Amino acid sequence: MPDWEALYQEDRTPWQRKGLNPAFDYWRHQHLFQPCRILMPGCGTSPEVVELARLGFDVTALDLSQTAIDKQREYLSQTRQTATLEVDSVLTWMPEHHFDMIYEQTCLCALELHDRHHYVQQLRHWLKPDGTLFALFMQTGEEGGPPYDCPILKMEELFSGEHWRWPDPPFFESHHSGQMFELGVVLKRHDRP
Ligand SMILES: C[S@@+](CC[C@H](N)C(=O)[O-])C[C@H]1O[C@@H](n2cnc3c(N)ncnc32)[C@H](O)[C@@H]1O
Repeated sequence: MPDWEALYQEDRTPWQRKGLNPAFDYWRHQHLFQPCRILMPGCGTSPEVVELARLGFDVTALDLSQTAIDKQREYLSQTRQTATLEVDSVLTWMPEHHFDMIYEQTCLCALELHDRHHYVQQLRHWLKPDGTLFALFMQTGEEGGPPYDCPILKMEELFSGEHWRWPDPPFFESHHSGQMFELGVVLKRHDRP
């Protein structure tokens, strides 16, 4: 497990895109972002926090790195936007209310494989019934990590049909420089009776 705090302090964040994730723009243009209460777990310093606030969302952003959260506070202040910022672990954090939406941008691929199942349970508990999960599943095609590969077949097992409704493929591809890309999937929480 990397020392995320040290990486942010030393400005060593190769996962950070220059701008918004292309899937974010795609979903926005599809009018899927209707202002509501939204959570961004493992937000790092990514600009989607400010952008969601600018679009009128009631944003909560969570990361275990104090430095990343301090930077988000600075970006919000510079742009005169507001959000609730939390320094905590996605594996233990328990909010006081549910969220209508969650924007999951590559936090899952940063977690150790043995923590995945618990994290997915957390996502489900945080979301209100019928809530929406915007997920960016990292595709590395390689063993090891982080980032750990999140192939769709494994994701379908993890986000099982018992609790999640899947859209039909194809899924949006957000490419990085090099071989890696993310698959953008919009899942609905549902609990089969
Ligand atoms: C690959 S980075 C992605 C950051 C951001 N979402 C982005 O797209 O640029 C993974 C992020 O997850 C955070 N993270 C890792 N483990 C975490 C945990 N257990 N709880 C909260 N955040 C965590 C890291 O600090 C880092 O900001």
